[in-house]
Amino acid sequence: MKTLKGKDFLKLLDFSSEEIIFLICLSEKLKAMKKNGISHALCSGKNAALIFEKTSTRTRCSFEVAARDLGMGTTYLDPSASQIGKKESIADTARVLSGMFEGIEYRGFGQSRVEELAKYASVPVWNGLTDEFHPTQILADLLTLKEHFGYLKGLKLVYMGDARFNMGNSLMVGCAKTGVDFAVCAPEKYYPNESLVKECLEIADKTGSKITFSPSPDEAVKGANAVYTDIWVSMGEPESVWEKRIAELSPYKVTSEIMAKAQKDAVFMHCLPSYHDLKTEIGKKVCEKFGMTELEVTDEVFESPCSVVFEEAENRMHTIKAVMAATLSEEEII
Ligand code: CP
Ligand code: NVA
Repeated sequence: MKTLKGKDFLKLLDFSSEEIIFLICLSEKLKAMKKNGISHALCSGKNAALIFEKTSTRTRCSFEVAARDLGMGTTYLDPSASQIGKKESIADTARVLSGMFEGIEYRGFGQSRVEELAKYASVPVWNGLTDEFHPTQILADLLTLKEHFGYLKGLKLVYMGDARFNMGNSLMVGCAKTGVDFAVCAPEKYYPNESLVKECLEIADKTGSKITFSPSPDEAVKGANAVYTDIWVSMGEPESVWEKRIAELSPYKVTSEIMAKAQKDAVFMHCLPSYHDLKTEIGKKVCEKFGMTELEVTDEVFESPCSVVFEEAENRMHTIKAVMAATLSEEEII
Protein backbone atom coordinates (compact mmCIF):
# COMPACT_ATOMS: atom_id res chain seq x y z
CA MET A 1 0.00 0.00 0.00
CA LYS A 2 1.08 3.54 -0.67
CA THR A 3 2.09 5.92 2.10
CA LEU A 4 0.07 9.04 2.83
CA LYS A 5 3.18 11.18 2.59
CA GLY A 6 2.56 14.90 2.83
CA LYS A 7 -1.15 14.53 3.66
CA ASP A 8 -2.80 16.37 6.57
CA PHE A 9 -4.85 14.36 9.08
CA LEU A 10 -7.68 16.76 9.92
CA LYS A 11 -10.82 14.61 9.82
CA LEU A 12 -11.73 11.10 8.67
CA LEU A 13 -14.02 12.52 5.98
CA ASP A 14 -10.84 13.43 4.07
CA PHE A 15 -9.77 9.77 3.88
CA SER A 16 -11.10 6.85 1.84
CA SER A 17 -12.22 3.65 3.57
CA GLU A 18 -9.12 1.99 2.13
CA GLU A 19 -6.82 4.64 3.64
CA ILE A 20 -8.44 4.29 7.07
CA ILE A 21 -8.04 0.52 6.99
CA PHE A 22 -4.43 1.02 5.86
CA LEU A 23 -3.78 3.22 8.94
CA ILE A 24 -5.33 0.59 11.22
CA CYS A 25 -3.21 -2.17 9.65
CA LEU A 26 -0.10 -0.01 9.94
CA SER A 27 -0.93 0.58 13.63
CA GLU A 28 -1.15 -3.18 14.16
CA LYS A 29 2.22 -3.64 12.50
CA LEU A 30 3.91 -0.87 14.52
CA LYS A 31 2.31 -2.16 17.73
CA ALA A 32 3.67 -5.67 17.07
CA MET A 33 7.13 -4.24 16.35
CA LYS A 34 7.07 -2.27 19.61
CA LYS A 35 5.90 -5.31 21.63
CA ASN A 36 8.65 -7.43 20.07
CA GLY A 37 11.35 -4.85 20.72
CA ILE A 38 11.94 -4.26 16.99
CA SER A 39 13.20 -0.76 16.28
CA HIS A 40 11.00 1.29 13.94
CA ALA A 41 12.70 4.66 13.71
CA LEU A 42 11.00 5.40 10.38
CA CYS A 43 11.16 9.19 10.73
CA SER A 44 14.61 9.56 12.13
CA GLY A 45 15.91 13.12 12.35
CA LYS A 46 12.48 14.74 11.92
CA ASN A 47 10.73 17.02 14.43
CA ALA A 48 7.10 17.72 15.33
CA ALA A 49 5.48 20.72 17.02
CA LEU A 50 2.67 19.79 19.41
CA ILE A 51 0.23 22.66 19.93
CA PHE A 52 -2.28 22.19 22.75
CA GLU A 53 -4.83 24.94 23.33
CA LYS A 54 -6.78 22.50 25.53
CA THR A 55 -5.41 20.08 28.15
CA SER A 56 -4.53 16.44 27.44
CA THR A 57 -3.07 13.28 28.96
CA ARG A 58 -3.47 10.57 26.28
CA THR A 59 -3.04 12.60 23.11
CA ARG A 60 0.01 14.52 24.25
CA CYS A 61 1.73 11.42 25.67
CA SER A 62 0.86 9.44 22.55
CA PHE A 63 2.40 12.01 20.22
CA GLU A 64 5.52 12.31 22.37
CA VAL A 65 6.11 8.57 22.85
CA ALA A 66 5.21 7.71 19.25
CA ALA A 67 7.53 10.41 17.95
CA ARG A 68 10.38 9.13 20.11
CA ASP A 69 9.84 5.56 18.86
CA LEU A 70 9.93 6.86 15.28
CA GLY A 71 13.24 8.61 15.95
CA MET A 72 11.72 12.08 16.05
CA GLY A 73 11.99 15.05 18.38
CA THR A 74 8.99 17.04 19.70
CA THR A 75 8.34 20.52 21.07
CA TYR A 76 5.24 20.93 23.25
CA LEU A 77 3.44 24.28 23.14
CA ASP A 78 0.71 24.81 25.73
CA PRO A 79 -1.82 27.67 25.62
CA SER A 80 0.37 29.87 27.79
CA ALA A 81 3.61 29.05 25.97
CA SER A 82 2.72 30.07 22.42
CA GLN A 83 1.68 33.29 20.73
CA ILE A 84 -0.87 31.46 18.56
CA GLY A 85 -4.10 33.40 18.12
CA LYS A 86 -3.10 36.02 20.68
CA LYS A 87 -0.07 37.83 19.28
CA GLU A 88 0.31 35.84 16.09
CA SER A 89 -2.27 34.65 13.58
CA ILE A 90 -2.73 30.97 12.80
CA ALA A 91 -1.53 31.63 9.25
CA ASP A 92 1.73 33.19 10.46
CA THR A 93 2.25 30.48 13.08
CA ALA A 94 1.78 27.81 10.40
CA ARG A 95 4.49 29.35 8.22
CA VAL A 96 6.91 29.87 11.13
CA LEU A 97 6.55 26.29 12.38
CA SER A 98 6.78 24.83 8.85
CA GLY A 99 10.30 26.21 8.65
CA MET A 100 11.43 24.31 11.75
CA PHE A 101 9.31 21.15 11.95
CA GLU A 102 8.33 18.32 9.60
CA GLY A 103 4.84 17.98 11.17
CA ILE A 104 2.46 19.95 13.40
CA GLU A 105 -0.14 18.57 15.82
CA TYR A 106 -2.96 20.88 16.87
CA ARG A 107 -5.57 20.49 19.67
CA GLY A 108 -7.97 23.34 20.16
CA PHE A 109 -11.38 24.79 19.59
CA GLY A 110 -13.14 25.10 16.20
CA GLN A 111 -12.23 22.75 13.35
CA SER A 112 -11.75 25.89 11.24
CA ARG A 113 -8.60 26.65 13.26
CA VAL A 114 -6.87 23.37 12.41
CA GLU A 115 -8.04 23.68 8.80
CA GLU A 116 -6.54 27.20 8.66
CA LEU A 117 -3.28 25.93 10.15
CA ALA A 118 -3.13 23.22 7.50
CA LYS A 119 -3.93 25.67 4.71
CA TYR A 120 -0.86 27.77 5.51
CA ALA A 121 1.52 25.03 6.72
CA SER A 122 3.76 23.36 4.18
CA VAL A 123 4.14 20.24 6.37
CA PRO A 124 1.47 17.72 7.49
CA VAL A 125 -0.92 18.95 10.21
CA TRP A 126 -2.55 16.39 12.53
CA ASN A 127 -5.79 17.09 14.40
CA GLY A 128 -5.37 16.18 18.10
CA LEU A 129 -9.04 17.14 18.84
CA THR A 130 -11.28 20.04 17.95
CA ASP A 131 -14.85 20.75 19.03
CA GLU A 132 -16.12 19.02 15.88
CA PHE A 133 -13.75 16.07 15.35
CA HIS A 134 -11.29 13.78 17.17
CA PRO A 135 -10.00 11.58 14.34
CA THR A 136 -6.95 10.03 16.04
CA GLN A 137 -9.24 8.78 18.83
CA ILE A 138 -11.45 6.99 16.31
CA LEU A 139 -8.49 5.16 14.76
CA ALA A 140 -7.64 3.86 18.25
CA ASP A 141 -11.26 2.83 18.84
CA LEU A 142 -11.46 1.00 15.51
CA LEU A 143 -8.15 -0.75 16.20
CA THR A 144 -9.46 -1.81 19.62
CA LEU A 145 -12.64 -3.21 18.06
CA LYS A 146 -10.67 -5.04 15.37
CA GLU A 147 -8.33 -6.57 17.95
CA HIS A 148 -11.22 -7.60 20.15
CA PHE A 149 -13.62 -9.05 17.56
CA GLY A 150 -11.18 -9.85 14.75
CA TYR A 151 -13.07 -7.75 12.17
CA LEU A 152 -14.92 -4.43 11.77
CA LYS A 153 -17.47 -4.65 8.95
CA GLY A 154 -20.85 -5.72 10.31
CA LEU A 155 -20.20 -4.81 13.95
CA LYS A 156 -22.71 -2.49 15.65
CA LEU A 157 -21.58 0.38 17.87
CA VAL A 158 -24.06 2.41 19.93
CA TYR A 159 -23.11 5.90 21.04
CA MET A 160 -25.01 7.09 24.13
CA GLY A 161 -25.07 10.74 25.17
CA ASP A 162 -24.13 14.03 23.51
CA ALA A 163 -23.59 12.95 19.90
CA ARG A 164 -23.34 16.51 18.53
CA PHE A 165 -19.74 17.06 19.63
CA ASN A 166 -16.34 15.72 18.54
CA MET A 167 -16.80 12.10 19.63
CA GLY A 168 -20.30 11.49 18.25
CA ASN A 169 -19.43 13.20 14.97
CA SER A 170 -16.18 11.40 14.37
CA LEU A 171 -17.40 7.98 15.46
CA MET A 172 -20.26 8.32 13.00
CA VAL A 173 -17.80 9.09 10.19
CA GLY A 174 -15.36 6.34 11.22
CA CYS A 175 -18.10 3.72 11.46
CA ALA A 176 -19.66 4.75 8.15
CA LYS A 177 -16.27 4.54 6.42
CA THR A 178 -15.44 1.09 7.79
CA GLY A 179 -18.83 -0.61 7.44
CA VAL A 180 -19.61 -0.59 11.18
CA ASP A 181 -23.28 0.04 12.06
CA PHE A 182 -23.59 3.22 14.12
CA ALA A 183 -26.56 3.90 16.39
CA VAL A 184 -27.02 7.24 18.11
CA CYS A 185 -28.92 6.89 21.37
CA ALA A 186 -29.87 10.27 22.80
CA PRO A 187 -32.68 12.81 22.91
CA GLU A 188 -33.17 14.22 19.41
CA LYS A 189 -31.49 17.56 20.15
CA TYR A 190 -28.22 15.70 20.83
CA TYR A 191 -28.07 14.07 17.37
CA PRO A 192 -25.19 15.14 15.07
CA ASN A 193 -26.00 17.97 12.65
CA GLU A 194 -28.10 17.22 9.60
CA SER A 195 -25.51 17.88 6.91
CA LEU A 196 -22.95 15.59 8.54
CA VAL A 197 -25.62 12.90 8.96
CA LYS A 198 -26.50 13.23 5.27
CA GLU A 199 -22.85 12.92 4.25
CA CYS A 200 -22.37 9.86 6.48
CA LEU A 201 -25.54 8.21 5.18
CA GLU A 202 -24.16 8.52 1.65
CA ILE A 203 -20.85 6.96 2.73
CA ALA A 204 -22.69 4.23 4.64
CA ASP A 205 -24.68 3.40 1.53
CA LYS A 206 -21.46 2.43 -0.18
CA THR A 207 -19.83 0.54 2.71
CA GLY A 208 -22.95 -1.25 3.91
CA SER A 209 -22.96 0.43 7.33
CA LYS A 210 -26.34 1.30 8.86
CA ILE A 211 -26.73 4.61 10.71
CA THR A 212 -29.71 4.86 13.04
CA PHE A 213 -31.08 7.25 15.65
CA SER A 214 -33.22 6.48 18.66
CA PRO A 215 -34.02 8.13 21.96
CA SER A 216 -34.71 4.67 23.43
CA PRO A 217 -31.75 2.82 25.01
CA ASP A 218 -33.68 -0.47 24.87
CA GLU A 219 -34.16 -0.16 21.13
CA ALA A 220 -30.69 1.24 20.33
CA VAL A 221 -28.57 -1.31 22.21
CA LYS A 222 -30.35 -4.32 20.74
CA GLY A 223 -27.69 -6.34 18.89
CA ALA A 224 -24.88 -3.93 19.85
CA ASN A 225 -21.31 -5.24 19.94
CA ALA A 226 -20.03 -2.04 21.54
CA VAL A 227 -21.61 0.61 23.77
CA TYR A 228 -19.70 3.89 23.71
CA THR A 229 -20.05 7.03 25.78
CA ASP A 230 -18.18 10.25 26.53
CA ILE A 231 -18.39 12.91 29.22
CA TRP A 232 -21.54 15.02 29.06
CA VAL A 233 -19.78 18.39 29.19
CA SER A 234 -16.76 18.75 26.94
CA MET A 235 -13.63 20.89 27.23
CA GLY A 236 -14.39 24.52 26.48
CA GLU A 237 -18.06 24.31 27.49
CA PRO A 238 -19.23 26.40 30.46
CA GLU A 239 -19.86 24.76 33.84
CA SER A 240 -23.38 26.17 33.77
CA VAL A 241 -24.51 23.53 31.23
CA TRP A 242 -24.04 20.65 33.68
CA GLU A 243 -27.52 20.98 35.22
CA LYS A 244 -29.35 20.67 31.89
CA ARG A 245 -27.06 17.90 30.62
CA ILE A 246 -27.60 15.85 33.76
CA ALA A 247 -31.36 16.30 33.51
CA GLU A 248 -31.46 15.37 29.83
CA LEU A 249 -28.74 12.73 29.58
CA SER A 250 -29.13 10.78 32.84
CA PRO A 251 -31.36 8.16 31.14
CA TYR A 252 -28.38 7.55 28.82
CA LYS A 253 -25.87 6.74 31.56
CA VAL A 254 -24.30 3.38 30.66
CA THR A 255 -25.34 0.91 33.34
CA SER A 256 -25.13 -2.87 33.76
CA GLU A 257 -28.83 -3.04 32.84
CA ILE A 258 -28.08 -1.37 29.52
CA MET A 259 -25.02 -3.57 28.85
CA ALA A 260 -27.20 -6.64 29.56
CA LYS A 261 -29.47 -5.66 26.66
CA ALA A 262 -26.57 -5.55 24.17
CA GLN A 263 -24.91 -8.66 22.68
CA LYS A 264 -23.62 -11.07 25.32
CA ASP A 265 -20.00 -10.34 24.42
CA ALA A 266 -20.46 -6.58 23.94
CA VAL A 267 -17.70 -4.24 25.05
CA PHE A 268 -17.93 -0.90 26.85
CA MET A 269 -15.91 1.92 25.28
CA HIS A 270 -15.00 5.47 26.33
CA CYS A 271 -12.41 7.89 24.96
CA LEU A 272 -11.55 9.00 28.54
CA PRO A 273 -11.24 10.88 30.80
CA SER A 274 -14.41 9.63 32.53
CA TYR A 275 -16.45 10.63 35.55
CA HIS A 276 -17.23 7.09 36.68
CA ASP A 277 -16.54 7.72 40.37
CA LEU A 278 -15.82 10.47 42.89
CA LYS A 279 -12.03 10.36 42.49
CA THR A 280 -11.71 13.46 40.32
CA GLU A 281 -12.07 17.09 41.38
CA ILE A 282 -14.68 17.99 38.76
CA GLY A 283 -16.55 14.69 38.96
CA LYS A 284 -16.79 14.97 42.74
CA LYS A 285 -17.92 18.60 42.63
CA VAL A 286 -20.61 17.95 40.01
CA CYS A 287 -21.80 14.73 41.65
CA GLU A 288 -22.05 16.35 45.07
CA LYS A 289 -23.98 19.30 43.67
CA PHE A 290 -26.53 17.08 41.89
CA GLY A 291 -26.63 14.20 44.38
CA MET A 292 -25.01 11.57 42.15
CA THR A 293 -22.14 9.11 42.59
CA GLU A 294 -21.13 8.77 38.94
CA LEU A 295 -22.07 10.50 35.70
CA GLU A 296 -22.00 9.10 32.13
CA VAL A 297 -21.17 5.50 33.14
CA THR A 298 -21.46 3.54 36.36
CA ASP A 299 -18.28 2.54 38.11
CA GLU A 300 -19.53 -1.03 37.90
CA VAL A 301 -19.54 -1.02 34.06
CA PHE A 302 -16.31 0.99 33.83
CA GLU A 303 -14.47 -1.54 36.00
CA SER A 304 -16.16 -4.63 34.57
CA PRO A 305 -14.45 -7.21 32.34
CA CYS A 306 -16.37 -5.90 29.29
CA SER A 307 -14.66 -2.50 29.58
CA VAL A 308 -11.90 -1.98 26.99
CA VAL A 309 -11.17 1.64 27.89
CA PHE A 310 -7.51 1.11 28.75
CA GLU A 311 -6.90 -0.87 25.56
CA GLU A 312 -8.33 2.12 23.67
CA ALA A 313 -6.02 4.45 25.61
CA GLU A 314 -2.93 2.40 24.75
CA ASN A 315 -4.00 2.21 21.13
CA ARG A 316 -3.98 6.01 20.93
CA MET A 317 -0.19 5.79 20.86
CA HIS A 318 0.04 3.04 18.23
CA THR A 319 -2.47 4.74 15.92
CA ILE A 320 -0.97 8.22 16.29
CA LYS A 321 2.38 6.65 15.45
CA ALA A 322 0.85 5.20 12.29
CA VAL A 323 -0.54 8.61 11.28
CA MET A 324 2.84 10.29 11.76
CA ALA A 325 4.76 7.51 9.99
CA ALA A 326 2.34 7.35 7.06
CA THR A 327 2.33 11.11 6.48
CA LEU A 328 6.07 11.65 7.04
CA SER A 329 7.93 8.52 6.02
CA GLU A 330 9.84 8.48 2.74
CA GLU A 331 9.35 4.74 2.28
CA GLU A 332 6.30 2.62 1.53
CA ILE A 333 5.72 1.15 4.97
CA ILE A 334 3.40 -1.78 4.34
N1 CP B 1 -9.10 10.75 24.81
C1 CP B 1 -8.31 11.85 24.82
O1 CP B 1 -8.16 12.57 23.82
O2 CP B 1 -7.69 12.05 25.99
P1 CP B 1 -6.82 13.32 26.39
O3 CP B 1 -7.78 14.49 26.48
O4 CP B 1 -6.20 12.98 27.71
O5 CP B 1 -5.79 13.56 25.33
N1 NVA C 1 -15.77 15.32 24.17
C1 NVA C 1 -14.58 15.36 24.97
C2 NVA C 1 -13.56 14.39 24.43
C3 NVA C 1 -12.32 14.29 25.25
C4 NVA C 1 -11.33 13.34 24.67
C5 NVA C 1 -14.03 16.77 25.01
O1 NVA C 1 -13.97 17.41 23.96
O2 NVA C 1 -13.70 17.25 26.10
